[in-house]
Amino acid sequence: MKYESILHAIGNTPLVRVPFDAPAQVYAKLESLNPSGSVKDRSAAYMIEQAERSGKLKPGGTIIEASSGNQGIATALIGAIKGYNVIITVAEKVSTEKQQTLTAYGAKIVVCKPTATLEDPESYYEIARKIHEETPNSVFLAQYYNNDNPLGHYYSLGQEIWNQTAGTLTHFITGVGSGGTIGGVSRYLKERNPKIKVIGVDTAHSYRATGGNPKPYKIEGIGIDYTSPHIENAVIDEFFNVADEDSLNMTKALARKYGFLVGPASGATAYAVQQYAEKLSPNDLIVCIFGDSGRAYLTKHFYE
Ligand SMILES: Cc1ncc(COP(=O)(O)O)c(C=O)c1O
Repeated sequence: MKYESILHAIGNTPLVRVPFDAPAQVYAKLESLNPSGSVKDRSAAYMIEQAERSGKLKPGGTIIEASSGNQGIATALIGAIKGYNVIITVAEKVSTEKQQTLTAYGAKIVVCKPTATLEDPESYYEIARKIHEETPNSVFLAQYYNNDNPLGHYYSLGQEIWNQTAGTLTHFITGVGSGGTIGGVSRYLKERNPKIKVIGVDTAHSYRATGGNPKPYKIEGIGIDYTSPHIENAVIDEFFNVADEDSLNMTKALARKYGFLVGPASGATAYAVQQYAEKLSPNDLIVCIFGDSGRAYLTKHFYE
């Protein structure tokens, strides 16, 4: 493949068999192969394009985003090549590698105190909103509430999964943070075949999974910490809550046994996938998302 811009290299990631010892066939989209290293290149590119198209984002403007890292990194890459200033707020637990990657792309990073929910006035989301209010000529992408987040996945990831499986998939399983991935992909797939089952993977300690009594958790990228419009608007057949320990054990196994060095959100997803795959038949085809690479978490010692 030859491209004239790094932006054109977003998407078209490979769909690769994960040879679990289970009756169902399992394939994973290797989203770490996007230019900034995660599934979030897709939503960032679309949200930024739409902000430009609507006239809210003007030349020389500032893009602000609240992120568990990857959405910010994708925004920083795109902002860098398009000449925008980028300010990203993250919570303290975001890995050193992800924070350094933001800096490498030239973004300004604001590290915020941990909070149990996004609605907390001290949360990285609320701090981003305040920075936006104080920054002239700025836009706040606000992935957690921006409908262009799921739409970006609808147009790229949903379509790719449908085409790469020639419409034969029976289950789609993905980790859920903002709900953009599951919202967009679910809509695309169910419009074409409403029988496809869509399963969201959450962390067992999130706001949603605990019924509003969240506890800290180690994994990054997924975990539903608020009432998400993307999730409320999506058709999701089931949620699967995964404990940190199960996520991290699977993350290690994916590297050591299967050769997928992926992040802990993908470990959580793969744990749920393996449980499902055991209950299904060889006619079932599960597609799941491996959202980013394990190289972004090596200093967290998850792999030792
Ligand atoms: C690293 C990572 N981040 C985020 C997500 C999903 O994010 P969202 O729900 O915000 O689209 C995934 C999904 O698998 C993921 O692996």
